[in-house]
Amino acid sequence: MNPSQQIEHWLSASKNTFHLSDRPFVTLCYAQSLDGSIAIRSGEPLALSSMESLQLTHQLRSIHDGILVGIGTVLSDDPQLNVRHWTGVDPQPIVLDSKLRIPAKARLCQLQNKRCWVLTTLEGESLANENEGALIEGLEITALQSNSEGRVCLERALRLLRAKGITSLMVEGGASIITAFLKAQLADAVVITLVPHLVGGYKAVSDLGGREKCHLPEISPLHSAPLGKDVILWGNLQYGKAVA
Ligand SMILES: NC(=O)c1ccc[n+]([C@@H]2O[C@H](COP(=O)([O-])OP(=O)(O)OC[C@H]3O[C@@H](n4cnc5c(N)ncnc54)[C@H](OP(=O)(O)O)[C@@H]3O)[C@@H](O)[C@H]2O)c1
Repeated sequence: MNPSQQIEHWLSASKNTFHLSDRPFVTLCYAQSLDGSIAIRSGEPLALSSMESLQLTHQLRSIHDGILVGIGTVLSDDPQLNVRHWTGVDPQPIVLDSKLRIPAKARLCQLQNKRCWVLTTLEGESLANENEGALIEGLEITALQSNSEGRVCLERALRLLRAKGITSLMVEGGASIITAFLKAQLADAVVITLVPHLVGGYKAVSDLGGREKCHLPEISPLHSAPLGKDVILWGNLQYGKAVA
């Protein structure tokens, strides 16, 4: 089996053994340099992946019900979050945007076949109502009670997505969102494209709040395979195991 078949096979098995019914199975998927950077600076796009890895990303999109990014990624990359470099069904695009900053000109606001779901907070919704016109056509906006930091509460967001029929969710970034999912122990699997560059830039994972090693997420078992010039690392995330 080539790496793309191996990963699809592993992911399908992982999803089948996932038994929580109140949230989707969550896969983190991103490209990073050897020193862990996903961009030079936050807010600036950086194309890291080779064409082979990009195809894998689009294949992964096609085998998840939903794809989620943070508003930071929308503002910097203006992504479409659809399947273009693979043949398959587009996942449902979802954006976490606590203050409803998504601009009307964003490509996600102008999708042909779907309305992007934007999850915001009750505060974000009322701010938008004050600034008339901020509720953009082409989006389906849902306001949720915020977390203690005034941001979209991930647990509530995942419960809502599951109730709306999303059983598998690919989380593509950026760094704040990846870190938040890991910190909340809400990511079940990870696929990392490791590119042979040193960037010295904006890191994929920041403070996980763990002063105790035993809470650090571990990828176990860890799989790897070369793909073009890149190396793909993938595996299930385990929390709470002692790390020596
Ligand atoms: N290499 C890759 O694979 C890859 C993939 C994606 C992005 N990127 C890069 O990553 C960078 C963007 O990353 P980023 O960290 O600046 O932005 P981000 O992670 O895309 O979005 C972060 C924003 O999401 C919102 N948010 C809503 N609920 C949240 C929650 N519970 N926890 C955390 N954030 C929440 C926050 O803004 P509000 O408080 O306003 O809601 C937060 O500032 C860009 O440079 C982009 O090019 C790289």
